[in-house]
Amino acid sequence: MNIVIVGCGYVGLVSGACLARLGHHALCIDLDRDRIEALKKGHCPIFEPGLTELIREGLQNGHLAFAHQMPALTSAVDLVLIAVGTPPAANGEDADLSGIFAVGREIAQKAVGKVLVVTKSTVPPGTGDALEDLIQRLRPDLAVAVASNPEFLREGSAIDDFLKPDRIVVGANEHCASLALRRLYHPLTEQGSPLVNTARTAAEIIKYAANAFLALKITFINEIADLCDATQVDVREVAQGIGHDRRIGPDFLRPGPGYGGSCFPKDTRALASTARKYGVALSLVEEAIASNERRKKAMGAKVASALGGDLRGRHIAVLGLSFKPDTSDTRDSPATALIASLLSQGALISACDPEARLEEPELTSAIEREKDPYQCAKNADCVVLATEWKSFLKLDFARLAAAMRTPLMVDLRNALDHAKLARCGFRTVGLGIPPHRPVTLRATTLRRPVAQVAFAPVSVLNGSKRQQLAQPQ
Ligand code: UGA
Repeated sequence: MNIVIVGCGYVGLVSGACLARLGHHALCIDLDRDRIEALKKGHCPIFEPGLTELIREGLQNGHLAFAHQMPALTSAVDLVLIAVGTPPAANGEDADLSGIFAVGREIAQKAVGKVLVVTKSTVPPGTGDALEDLIQRLRPDLAVAVASNPEFLREGSAIDDFLKPDRIVVGANEHCASLALRRLYHPLTEQGSPLVNTARTAAEIIKYAANAFLALKITFINEIADLCDATQVDVREVAQGIGHDRRIGPDFLRPGPGYGGSCFPKDTRALASTARKYGVALSLVEEAIASNERRKKAMGAKVASALGGDLRGRHIAVLGLSFKPDTSDTRDSPATALIASLLSQGALISACDPEARLEEPELTSAIEREKDPYQCAKNADCVVLATEWKSFLKLDFARLAAAMRTPLMVDLRNALDHAKLARCGFRTVGLGIPPHRPVTLRATTLRRPVAQVAFAPVSVLNGSKRQQLAQPQ
């Protein structure tokens, strides 16, 4: 089939490259000329494992093309897929749909005879109705159908999620739209991927409900982890014990520093706000949003408590900035909230991430950025694992401990082997798991008890920050 995809962001590019892989012809368009020129040369603007290779494959075999203008939408085009961003609106709650409606107006200009429009972007219920009304109002002569086909791609594993989906959701009110989308996904359904056919608005709600449910699940296990801390129980045993129940399932039961990213925080807020407009109270979703915010803030206090309460002048090395591994995305990343909290308590921060960098200039200028995790941990009082990148899990922990002033590991992902860390000289703190003390006391840990060390107050980090980091007086 011939598809025009509007928006060369994360969703548009993954969809275009994967649809090309499935044998369709995808023309991806974006207003950003530089982005399009780079893509034409096979340079992918985002970090997503496997995406560059897939884009290059599509360019080479002629199934994928890029342009900065929408072509005439003649009968040669089977469908137009909208994959533009729906970021939070100015009120911080609703989704900003201006991009969707701008594309709708352009489609109304370029369509010839009839057009099938498919929204992949995450939109509140009723958006498909409004989009169809808009196009029809601008072009009463046109036969227009709008369908909803939400994506369930996870950053970091998006290619696999697209090509081996748990399910494909097609929300269409017209039979012809539903048939076209069944043809589009035939290469996947014939391999066994289930396709759920629903009404258009139901598909829009499915996307929000799926993300909100997963956000609830994470929030639930995070709160249970707090209870496990208080009762000295290992939350991993609890997660295993409940996860074997098929009605609950084992996934998304890993405690962490709060869910982040460009989807869960934004979509839960938009869902709760939409429901309020309909006079419906989604109290569980509202509470998950509040609980997650509290949790992100609590992580700074957790690190402070592990270090005896006073963070002034203490050097903390933060491993991981992205909201999860295998992505450079730091939007709503718990690491950002953590660093802001630690800085406000007077700590000195060095940070390391294989791909991500912080967007906030005030944080970037206040921290020391290191490429090498061992350098990052040099003379540190504490290492915090904020994001569980594989490269961090495979570190030489004896070497890391030797580089530090006091080997303390706060593992905010419960991703490390704490018994092994203890054998390497670390004291460890996790989330709802028992703390470990160093098994063999190393010379480095015996130097001085932390509580007896006085630190020079350092209010601003600049210039030779490395030398200023937590020098005992
Ligand atoms: C999420 C959904 O999983 C996708 O299905 C959906 O398509 C996407 O949003 C979207 O709306 O576009 P994503 O944001 O890429 O995908 O990331 P997830 O893997 O779902 O993780 C979200 C957050 O939850 C991360 O901060 C992660 O660290 C956290 N998490 C996840 C936990 O803290 N514990 C877990 O057990 C799982």
